[in-house]
Amino acid sequence: MYLTKEEERALDGEHGEAVEKSMKLLTAIGDIYNARKLVPIKSAQIAGVSYKNIGDAGLEYVRDLADQGARVRVFSTLNPAGNDPERWQEMGVDEAFASKQKEIVEAYARMDILPTCTCSPYEISNIAMKWEHLAWSESSAVVFANSFFGACTNREGGPSSLAAAIVGKTPEYGMHLNENRAGKVLVNVNAKLESGTDYAVMGHYIGGIVGSRVPVFAGMDAQIPYQLKMMGAGLAASGGVPMFHAVGLTPEADTALSGKPEDKIAFGEEELKQAYEALDQGVEEPDIACIGCPHCSVTGLARIAKQLKGKEVSTPTWVFTNTAIKKLADRAGYTKTIEKSGAKVFCDTCFIVSPVEKMGYKSMITNSSKAGHYSSSFCGLKSKVMKLTDLVKEVTK
Ligand code: F3S
Repeated sequence: MYLTKEEERALDGEHGEAVEKSMKLLTAIGDIYNARKLVPIKSAQIAGVSYKNIGDAGLEYVRDLADQGARVRVFSTLNPAGNDPERWQEMGVDEAFASKQKEIVEAYARMDILPTCTCSPYEISNIAMKWEHLAWSESSAVVFANSFFGACTNREGGPSSLAAAIVGKTPEYGMHLNENRAGKVLVNVNAKLESGTDYAVMGHYIGGIVGSRVPVFAGMDAQIPYQLKMMGAGLAASGGVPMFHAVGLTPEADTALSGKPEDKIAFGEEELKQAYEALDQGVEEPDIACIGCPHCSVTGLARIAKQLKGKEVSTPTWVFTNTAIKKLADRAGYTKTIEKSGAKVFCDTCFIVSPVEKMGYKSMITNSSKAGHYSSSFCGLKSKVMKLTDLVKEVTK
């Protein structure tokens, strides 16, 4: 990979140990993927935050980097942590876990990374322009950035997004190159999609077929970004999809299918039914219900408040967002309405990255295909995905 004189000096350690370490990682990745050069990035979204996921080795890694004086050069935000920073006891998280989690978030903050602790950074100020280069980890956010903004980011891992943030650059390969953003599979949507969950479940079904190829959706008539956010999360969970195009909805869709698609998929009512069935592991009496994967926006919390208003939950119901959104929801009265029902609004974490395995839950229901997918594959619970209206009926019966 070609390096400028300045980049060579950084690789030789002239800008300190942290930059040298980061350059080594980026050049190794660049060489693996045959990148021609490094490109400057506008922002980073950094995963590898939950203590459950990174453990003591990860804590040591970020603490060492912070101690070595590592500082990010671009606007950088953080993925969810393993517990709510204030209400960890209510979640059933133990003190040792919470204290290590605090140390991790503080180490990132010492590197000048905004401790947003959310997988929806685009809801709270980390947004992008078309064709800006980014280094984002968190697969659902990556799909959103590429597809919705038309920005360019690969599916980074925690260490590579952190290295890119420290250097301010990322290797130019994959989604940073126009030719890799073309649509490969045409999805003709004939099913009537009504809720965010319908979109999420369709995304999960299609992701399982297309793998890492870029799909182009035609005939889809999403009304709000929430529906595409839910669909993108589903696509990324079951496949390695980094982006999608939606005719009439996303910025690069017009030119996405300039060639003949490799494949065509029809998605009608029958496929929608099959997609729901694939995410139903036969949960009859769920131990817990989870909403907010990806993290709820303020309008998402308004929707949930409307549905829970005046009701009482009989099953533990957890709603996930981040501190910034929750503060706004507190002011608007949404949190109070939701929590009056007995449901809890937790911040800066989620069901999947919190230590649920130690909390005794064996089964869960959710309105998110991503949460359903990972609660079984990553956390070992039985899960069932259902629309928000059905979930509310289930937990308030
Ligand atoms: Fe976010 Fe957790 Fe889902 S990080 S996308 S809420 S699995």
